[in-house]
Amino acid sequence: MAATTRVLQCDPASISFHPPAILPTISSPDTQTAIQAAAHELVHNLRPVAFPTETVYGLGALALDVSATSRIFSTKGRPADNPLIVHVSSFAMLHRLLPPQFILPDTYTALMKHFWPGALTLLFPCDSNTIPSIVTAGQPTVAIRMPSHPVARALIAVSDAPLAAPSANSSGKPSPTRAEHVQRDLEGKISVILDGGACGVGLESTVVDGLQPDGAIRVLRPGGVTVEDIERVLELEMASPPKVLVHKRDYRDDVLEAAPTTPGMKYRHYSPAVPVHLLCTLSVPPSSAQPVDIASYLDSLKASSPRPLKIGVLAPTDSRFATYPLPSDGIEWLRFPLGPSAEPAVAAHGLFDGLLTLERQGADMILIEEIGEEREGLAFMNRVRKAAGESIWLKMD
Ligand code: TXA
Ligand code: MG
Repeated sequence: MAATTRVLQCDPASISFHPPAILPTISSPDTQTAIQAAAHELVHNLRPVAFPTETVYGLGALALDVSATSRIFSTKGRPADNPLIVHVSSFAMLHRLLPPQFILPDTYTALMKHFWPGALTLLFPCDSNTIPSIVTAGQPTVAIRMPSHPVARALIAVSDAPLAAPSANSSGKPSPTRAEHVQRDLEGKISVILDGGACGVGLESTVVDGLQPDGAIRVLRPGGVTVEDIERVLELEMASPPKVLVHKRDYRDDVLEAAPTTPGMKYRHYSPAVPVHLLCTLSVPPSSAQPVDIASYLDSLKASSPRPLKIGVLAPTDSRFATYPLPSDGIEWLRFPLGPSAEPAVAAHGLFDGLLTLERQGADMILIEEIGEEREGLAFMNRVRKAAGESIWLKMD
């Protein structure tokens, strides 16, 4: 347990990479000092450090050191059977992790060309001589990505070591997208947070398995790189592009679903301390659901508490719920707008920030309105379904 948590400011714009040089050039002395202090904490003290990536903030530790990585699990309260993503800063570092006889599939070459560095995590066969089983939770594969955030890449390069890093939140909570989210959650539990500002994407990387014998690309977790973009790149780069299958949408996998290797299969995820309802205003209700008239739903919320409620709303600015004339008696509405419906990337960017901000503002409960599952909407709805305790189909006519 660290006594104080230092938040060290970093200016991402001061960091540049000039391959083939492995180390970045850092023009800001403060940023240089901050990254060196964080690398020292990782390499010499074997303690985890929080740092920004383009997706969410990560809690990194030396991936190849068992005592360092075990501190990730204890700091987050993370179950030991949930494997970690290993982050690299260069292709040379990637190749040092892979089994010597492994040949990159053409699909991976194409995806890495377009999306690395970036928000795409790929599964590779795990070389158990190199990667400790605590990282993979004993899986035969290891998940690896090369982040594009300059602070993340610089920290890995300066540490000269791959970093295992889950999102920098207590297990089960929404992933942090700003340094202050990390600080509020992990203050006193870690000694260094690198503050590089708000994360650009706002939710986690896309996790892809392209190692199956049929050559298909399986999306285990939708994320910052969209399925449409993956399909586009494979069409562009390959003479006979493989199928791209999204877990649960396009296929099921009993073995996968019994194991916790895909986020949210087994454990509760992304939940703030207050109840979250998913409001369905677009999709057709399943036969098991009983659609509710919006006026009755709002009455039921009011009736659920003897005192006036503060209710947080996460919805696109032009959506059906956001444009409905909500009553102001008995309910104080806290709105966190998610941009226009036509721009799901804005909604993805705001989701975790919105959940954490509304919770901080004292919301008694949070309502999230569904969005279409195109592009970033797929990852948005994947996270919302895991965060929400209840889904309500609203009749709004
Ligand atoms: O954007 C991200 O991916 C962030 C930043 C920090 O890089 N990291 C992140 O880590 O989201 P985490 O631990 O919160 O989620 C990683 C997920 C795990 O929940 C795990 O289920 C999956 O990746 N994963 C890791 N190794 C795997 C493997 N060998 N097979 C299948 N899934 C795996
Ligand atoms: Mg996480």
